[in-house]
Amino acid sequence: MNTPYFDNVLTSKPEVPAPGFALVAAAELGAVKGIIDVTVDDELATIDTVAVHPDYQHQGLGRALLTEARARVSALGVPTLDAWTRDDPATLSWYRAMGFTESQHYLHVYANYYADVSEPDRAISERRVGLRPMTAFLHASLENEQPMREQFARVHVCRRFAMDVL
Ligand SMILES: CC(C)(COP(=O)(O)OP(=O)(O)OC[C@H]1O[C@@H](n2cnc3c(N)ncnc32)[C@H](O)[C@@H]1OP(=O)(O)O)[C@@H](O)C(=O)NCCC(=O)NCCS
Repeated sequence: MNTPYFDNVLTSKPEVPAPGFALVAAAELGAVKGIIDVTVDDELATIDTVAVHPDYQHQGLGRALLTEARARVSALGVPTLDAWTRDDPATLSWYRAMGFTESQHYLHVYANYYADVSEPDRAISERRVGLRPMTAFLHASLENEQPMREQFARVHVCRRFAMDVL
């Protein structure tokens, strides 16, 4: 699927512990059209995953999943629903259209030997003897965006979207 988290591939779907929940939009024969997973930690509910199969996007399914999730979070008495995402323009448009407010930005930086052989050494100051870094995933503050983009081929702005649900 065209998720901005395409490198975060799992071999099975993680369990969502209660009072969090996982909703599935299914076709008549049981095929999965879309999912939303929400974890709840005290006063905060977080969308861990929201995805609609590409064949069914732009038909209101994402909105329907969010509407139901929002009602359940509200019924739990949890005041805030949030989500973290990167810089995929379509995804950002969707969160904004759904009424989320954007805040809190930081960088996801990938240092990869195959992008540029010197990238891992730019990210890691001291090598361990016998090990050569090939790839590293790092966090950085937004104020360092320009130097990070100059030094690494792949940099994402990661951001929080949040809404009041009560
Ligand atoms: C983001 C996603 C869940 C939205 O689901 P969806 O079912 O396609 O969205 P909906 O049809 O419910 O959209 C509702 C409204 O959001 C807005 N919207 C949706 N996609 C949009 C886009 N690409 N650009 C601009 N606005 C958009 C529109 O206002 C739309 O209303 P409309 O029906 O009048 O067009 C879906 O596109 C998806 O699975 N994307 C890939 C996975 C992903 O990026 N997940 C989030 C990772 S953090």
